[in-house]
Amino acid sequence: MSNNRDTTSGATATSPPISAVLNDAVITALRAPSIHNTQPWKWIIRSQEAELYRDLRWHLPVADPDRKLLTLSCGAALHHARVAALAGGFQPLVHRMPDPDQPDLLARLNLGKAIPVTRDALQLYRATLLRHTDRRPVSSDPVAAELLQLLEERAAAEGVALHILRPEDVTDLLVAVGHAEQVEAGDPAFRAELAYWGGVSPRTPMGVPSSSLLQERPRHRGLPPRDFGAAGTLMEGPGDNSGARYAILHGDGDQPLDWLRAGEALSAVWLTATVEGLSVMPVSAVVEVPVGQAALRRLFGVGVPYLVIRLGLPAAPGTRLLTARRPISDSVSSVSDDLEADD
Ligand SMILES: Cc1cc2nc3c(=O)[nH]c(=O)nc-3n(C[C@H](O)[C@H](O)[C@H](O)COP(=O)(O)O)c2cc1C
Repeated sequence: MSNNRDTTSGATATSPPISAVLNDAVITALRAPSIHNTQPWKWIIRSQEAELYRDLRWHLPVADPDRKLLTLSCGAALHHARVAALAGGFQPLVHRMPDPDQPDLLARLNLGKAIPVTRDALQLYRATLLRHTDRRPVSSDPVAAELLQLLEERAAAEGVALHILRPEDVTDLLVAVGHAEQVEAGDPAFRAELAYWGGVSPRTPMGVPSSSLLQERPRHRGLPPRDFGAAGTLMEGPGDNSGARYAILHGDGDQPLDWLRAGEALSAVWLTATVEGLSVMPVSAVVEVPVGQAALRRLFGVGVPYLVIRLGLPAAPGTRLLTARRPISDSVSSVSDDLEADD
């Protein structure tokens, strides 16, 4: 019996064609998280593959002079594309950093053989539409240990470690983050860059919208969300943050490939967390300044720290704080191989 969306037996004669799945993978990637919602990527779709480039127009020269968090953001987009390929019934084949002469070309994505669509793939795919950054305090409910272990496994499957901090380590983390934020706040160039990207109108296609930022500095305990220097419109809600857990994505390498993989791990962790009903808030100030990176290494014995995240059960579940994205035409172009051959 033919089945259009058979979730057990794999792609069928009526499965979407490769080109449709490739297009969908790239469109799905545009929903990925990125530092300050800069969306620092550019995709080129060819007939058989999609290429992911970093887009240096959206580089943050002050917070991210070495373009590490830019590359990490692109890695999250790459993982989103892989998730869509799996949900479309094809094995994603990724060649990372395929051309040393083209450092901006971060990955080539091809679709391999047709494979069964699993329930996990469909859940992660759906999560790409629901995932968002939630800066409100989380609830007092504890995050289950099995869930934290699942998130560690998802990061490990991407070749990246997720170090979950013990509750007694949190004070040290708060001090390290607070110090890094002080360093940034003391630098007018940092403040100007943050103010440029933070608190934008929700209709602006880039930047962190005021609708995703809290109205007031939160009164709850634990790590406050980043101060973008602009008041938001988001109510703090009923959470007291006491159930929050913090984790550090880290690894051994500090090369662009390592930061790309870190982004893939971030997406794997975040989409899984979304499926499981957890909220996620990245905390990057502490990896943006050398003194913060050094503190994370010294305090927690991690290798190269890529990103800190806050995990927790949302106090107001069900709300989606969606942020805008640039028009597709600004991030994606399609090139027919026939045309290329004619060039
Ligand atoms: C590498 C990286 C660093 C980030 N750093 C922070 C941060 O320090 N504070 C924060 O509130 N959000 C941070 N974010 C979240 C982004 O602001 C968010 O992904 C972006 O605005 C898009 O919104 P969305 O995640 O709701 O789709 C970070 C995201 C990434 C990928």
